[in-house]
Amino acid sequence: MCGIIGYIGKKDAAPILLKGLKDLEYLGYDSAGLVVHSPEALQVVRTPGKIVELEKAMGGKEYPGTMGVGHTRWATHGEPNKVNTHPHLSFDGKFAVVHNGIIENYMTLKNKLMQKGIEFKSDTDSEVVAHLIAHLYKGDVGKAVLQALNMLQGAFGLGIVSLDNPEMLIGARRGSPLLVGIAKDDLFLSSDVAAVIGHTSKVVYLDDNDVVFMRNDGSHRIVNLHSQEVQREVEEVEFSVEHVEKGGFDHFMLKEIFEQPDSIRNCTRGRLLINEGTAKLSGLATNIKELRSIDRIIITACGTSYYAGMVGEYMIEELAGIPVEVEYASEFRYRNPVIGPNTIVLAISQSGETADTLAALKESQRRGATALGICNVVGSTLARESDGGVYLHVGPEIGVASTKAFTAQVSVLAMIALLLGRMRRVSFEQGVEIAQAMQELPAKVQEILKLNDRIKDIASRFTNAPNFLYLGRHYNYPVAMEGALKLKEISYIHAEGYPAAEIKHGPIALIDENMPVVVVAPKDALFEKVLSNIQEIKARKARVIVVTTEANEHLEQFTDEVIVIPSTLSMLMPILTCIPLQLLAYHIAVLRGNNVDQPRNLTKSVMVE
Ligand code: M6R
Repeated sequence: MCGIIGYIGKKDAAPILLKGLKDLEYLGYDSAGLVVHSPEALQVVRTPGKIVELEKAMGGKEYPGTMGVGHTRWATHGEPNKVNTHPHLSFDGKFAVVHNGIIENYMTLKNKLMQKGIEFKSDTDSEVVAHLIAHLYKGDVGKAVLQALNMLQGAFGLGIVSLDNPEMLIGARRGSPLLVGIAKDDLFLSSDVAAVIGHTSKVVYLDDNDVVFMRNDGSHRIVNLHSQEVQREVEEVEFSVEHVEKGGFDHFMLKEIFEQPDSIRNCTRGRLLINEGTAKLSGLATNIKELRSIDRIIITACGTSYYAGMVGEYMIEELAGIPVEVEYASEFRYRNPVIGPNTIVLAISQSGETADTLAALKESQRRGATALGICNVVGSTLARESDGGVYLHVGPEIGVASTKAFTAQVSVLAMIALLLGRMRRVSFEQGVEIAQAMQELPAKVQEILKLNDRIKDIASRFTNAPNFLYLGRHYNYPVAMEGALKLKEISYIHAEGYPAAEIKHGPIALIDENMPVVVVAPKDALFEKVLSNIQEIKARKARVIVVTTEANEHLEQFTDEVIVIPSTLSMLMPILTCIPLQLLAYHIAVLRGNNVDQPRNLTKSVMVE
């Protein structure tokens, strides 16, 4: 996803836009630009690269004006060079537009405009919006914008500045998040609340096909595409500015890893009913009757959320005996999935904006399923469009590599499994045991974080490895997958996660003295089996790093590095075992000189297919 920040009010717009772009940089950092409505002209500045490059490009020059809009881009259509950078100016210089999303019919519109002699400068789909509005403009900006929007197919979050209308900033949303921040004397337009919480806690989340006209007297008006006025609630945002600051840590990722004792506490607070041995999830209150009669669950998600879903599958099947399938959202949406009358679809997404996950949600609703969501971002599309669901309550996750969202997603899934289990075959005693174990998790995570220096030291011995294997069994198989994903996305080292026993069916051929293998092996029912897998790989001279809950000489004999962490119930172990893997990936990436918060080619939220 790219980031949009707009401002209209009494203050100088340029510094506000620049600061907003820095807050949004985690969403896209291929190129950035902004436009300020200066008395005589629309002043545009844009550069490839990060916001720091934009700042350099602005250096020394005045950008007077109290209204404007900025954009930080994650390139989809067209390479991240200057001409493809937003804002895009219309052919007559009267409109500047920033755009998130994809205009699916841009080629048709572009051809029509070119036939009328309009010259295009970029390879983007977005430029067409600026030219189209200018082409339709006959003195009434609102009319031209609505006419243009009615011609667009696809997804958009738009910020529009008109030279003839210095008193007005326009935003529009369809399938790409956009909100209005309302401060005392000024208004903000943004794709993400992170860019406005430094100014105000009052926001209005726009719905699809909403168009907002924001004025410099602090008022705003929202209409639909037929120009009819619509009312949207002003909501209070719960978190504050320290959530989007590094707070003394070198990177957001490290801060978020260290936040996990608190984030798990916040996620489970008030939801674990120890005395009843169950969980209470108010977002599912209206679905309770249905949850009693479901006979199948499909979990759908992408990336880290998908791996959390895999843990959820094991938990729900174990506690509730309900068959669960986990499917990549990108596959689910294009298959012909079988959805029975008692099937529930559970979509998991930190951002609540991942295009494939949203499409899978819609597809399942189209087929009559109740579709529930697990997400973090309040007011996100997933939260609005699902038929019920659970928030993570962990505050904004800024690091592109997901960490605290994973442990919270697994915690929520554990609570759902407990709830479903108690409706079926989990006894009161077992329920109490699970709820109590969950309550003890934050303190155990805190203990693991004390191993940070030790893990950094281990990382220093593996920074030059070209490949890594991650192995785990049962509940820790998804953790192996997640550990490998963490490593590859921030260190750019090729890594794969496997069920430990599967290694003999092929991957063992990769192993020699240069191959580090991370084995997740808590002392549980499968420990001896995993130990024999470790012996197999050690026999091929692999360098073995093991994460376990109990060290002994026997284990040390076959391993190079042993990381010992506290123990908990098997079903909850992923919440603990993933933490050393997060730290290992983090330190390896930092030691390799990578920017872990802005890994190459990635964005925090993938809003395109
Ligand atoms: O916001 P979502 O949970 O839907 O995002 C899904 C994936 O894009 C995300 O988990 C991605 O894999 C992360 N970069 C992993 O660290």
